[in-house]
Amino acid sequence: MSALSSALPDFPWDLLEPAKKLAAAHPGGIVDLSIGTPVDSVPQSVRQALADASDAPGYPLTAGTPQLRAAIAGWLARECRASGDLGVLPTIGSKELVAWLPTLLGVRPGDVVVIPSVCYPTYEVGVRLTGAEVIRSDSLTAIGPDPRVKLIWINSPSNPTGRVLPVEHLRKVVDWARERGVTVVSDECYLSLGWETTPVSVLDDRVTGGDYTGVLAVHSLSKRSNLAGYRAGFLGGDPALVNELLTVRKHAGMIVPAPVQAAMVAALTDETHVEQQRERYAARREILRSALVKAGFEISHSEAGLYLWATRGEDCWTTVDRLAQRGILAAPGAFYGPAAAQHVRIAMTATDERVAAAADRLSEPF
Ligand SMILES: Cc1ncc(COP(=O)(O)O)c(C=O)c1O
Repeated sequence: MSALSSALPDFPWDLLEPAKKLAAAHPGGIVDLSIGTPVDSVPQSVRQALADASDAPGYPLTAGTPQLRAAIAGWLARECRASGDLGVLPTIGSKELVAWLPTLLGVRPGDVVVIPSVCYPTYEVGVRLTGAEVIRSDSLTAIGPDPRVKLIWINSPSNPTGRVLPVEHLRKVVDWARERGVTVVSDECYLSLGWETTPVSVLDDRVTGGDYTGVLAVHSLSKRSNLAGYRAGFLGGDPALVNELLTVRKHAGMIVPAPVQAAMVAALTDETHVEQQRERYAARREILRSALVKAGFEISHSEAGLYLWATRGEDCWTTVDRLAQRGILAAPGAFYGPAAAQHVRIAMTATDERVAAAADRLSEPF
């Protein structure tokens, strides 16, 4: 046996420990804006649904209960404007899916998977677990006619940049992939969090024309419904691909717990809590954005999602250090790809009190 972990990159968050220690030494305490982990409460209706379903002695269905399957299909039709016949499947949060999807779809050594040039690190992890090769690219022409490409990941709104891909871009990717028999997987876990533009799903009729062949969209309730602790995700798209994933996941025991399935139904059939959460983030975003701009930062993209993608035109570790001296912890762009060495990612997932403290500290001269 060879250690699978040796194929994986170093766990980047360990590198942030010195900055975290420095920030924690601030007399007003640390303002941790380095991770996009929700801090506001789980909606009451969702907690109730979880509690009501807690007497669950039997095995749950990998495919999801009929109620959950209907709730996912209804949500995708409504929020993603997908009017065709979709395959749907609940997942144990979306990170496990991102990490295992290439394996589950049969990507092998010798294959190539394309991921965005600056992106969530788990796409690369998932490819490395298969032994296939990763290409970082945002340009289809740069990829060229490489027959080894089997899968392409896109992520809109993007973590970390907050960039949103418009309909035409999505359509080009889908057309390009279909011509070559490549599978397109679109990670859309920030879809409900558009600020300056309305994000579009790859499943939107304007992109697919109602034909989902070779197309999958990955979604999560972690951000839109504060359910990161529940591990609640799902996917929708090409019924044949979804069925293939279901077959393997059934054998592998990748099952969402029954109480979580019930909680997901409650979360997917109510948009009021999503709107309330959006308002909280919009207020925090504005406070952080204007404080960063006043402090001399330039904000790139960031039109949607949970982060401000900011730069001072210097090495990201220098910026991380300067912020840590003020007790603020940010994530260095270097975590997300070599092309992001001068940016930092500032998460909006902190309490109003901590966000106000960050704004106050940013007003000190840099
Ligand atoms: C782009 C992206 N995809 C997937 C995930 C995983 O989220 P979860 O596993 O909570 O659904 C995250 C988490 O931050 C993310 O930023």
